[in-house]
Amino acid sequence: MHVPILSARTGWHTDELLRALAARGHTGSVVPYESLVARIAPRSTAATLAAASQQLLSAPTVLARIVPNGSLEQIIYRVDALHWLEERGVKVLNSPRAIERCVDKFYTSALLHEAGLDTPETIVCERVDDAMAAVREMGDVIVKPLFGSMGHGMVRVSDPETAFRVFRALEMSRAVFYLQRVVEHAGCDVRAFVVGNRVVAAIERRSRDGGWRTNISLGGEARAIDLPPAWSELALTAARVVGADYAGVDLLPASDGTIHVIEVNGIPGWSGAQKATSVDIAGAIVDHLIVTVCD
Ligand SMILES: Nc1ncnc2c1ncn2[C@@H]1O[C@H](COP(=O)(O)OP(=O)(O)O)[C@@H](O)[C@H]1O
Ligand SMILES: [Mg+2]
Repeated sequence: MHVPILSARTGWHTDELLRALAARGHTGSVVPYESLVARIAPRSTAATLAAASQQLLSAPTVLARIVPNGSLEQIIYRVDALHWLEERGVKVLNSPRAIERCVDKFYTSALLHEAGLDTPETIVCERVDDAMAAVREMGDVIVKPLFGSMGHGMVRVSDPETAFRVFRALEMSRAVFYLQRVVEHAGCDVRAFVVGNRVVAAIERRSRDGGWRTNISLGGEARAIDLPPAWSELALTAARVVGADYAGVDLLPASDGTIHVIEVNGIPGWSGAQKATSVDIAGAIVDHLIVTVCD
C-alpha cells in the first residue's frame, strides 16, 4: 500500500514514518498541504483531490501528520479536505474530528470532564472582565494559549494587577482566554503515548528547574516508566473520548493524589518518548494503520 503523509515539511517524524512503512513492505510519500488541488467536476465526472499528481481520494489511507499554521482560510480548507477524504472512505489518521477536538484546549477539557475524568478547573472566556472574575475566583491560574503546545506561551498569574496587564495585552491579539486553576504538583508529570487501544510508551517528565512546566521542549528531562494499569486506563479513556487513533496524553499527579488529565495531543511528536523508551513509535502507528485499513 502507498500512504500519503500530509505534513508541512519533511523531518525526523516523517522520516520515521517512511522507515516504518518501508520496513513493513509499504511505501509512503510526504505531501505538503499547500500542494493540495481539489477539482469539483461537472456533475457526470468524479471530483478529485490531488497533491503533486497523486490522487488522495482513491488512497486507502492518509496520515495527517500535522495541520500547519496558516490563515483561517487555509486551516479550514485543509481540515475540510481531510473531512472530505474521510467521508469518501479514506481512513484519515488522526481523523479530522479528533484533530479539531484536541487542538482546542477548551473542547478537550470539556470532553474530558464530561467523560468523568479529573481535569483541572478551567474557565474559558473572551472578555477581560470575565477573565478578571475568573482570576479572583480561582486565585492562582495558568493562562494558556487555546491552541498552544510544547509549553509555549503559558503564563502563571495570581496577582490581579499583573493578570489585568496580561489580559489587556492578549486582548490586542483577539485571544480567547483559557484560564486553568494551578494544580500543586512535584514538578513531574507523565506523557503516555497511546496507539489504538494500547499505551505503547510512557515517560515521566521532570521540569529542569523544579518549575511547574515539565515539557521536554522547555528542557524537561524524561525517563521511561512502567505505567500503572489505572493510569493506562485513564490515558486510553482520554484518547477514546476525543476519538484519536493515536495521542500523547499528559497525566499530572497532584500533591493531593488526584491524577489530572491535562491534555490530549492529537498531533503529538514522539522523539522524546522514543529516545527515553527505545520503543519504535512510528512502527506502532504504522502497524495500527495497517490493521485498521485492512479490517
Ligand atoms: N493546571 C496546571 N497546574 C499545574 N501545572 C500545569 C497545569 N497545566 C499544565 N501544567 C504543566 O504545564 C505543562 C504544559 O501544559 P499543557 O496543558 O500540556 O500545554 P502544552 O500543550 O503547551 O503542552 C504540563 O505538562 C504541566 O507540567
Ligand atoms: Mg502538554
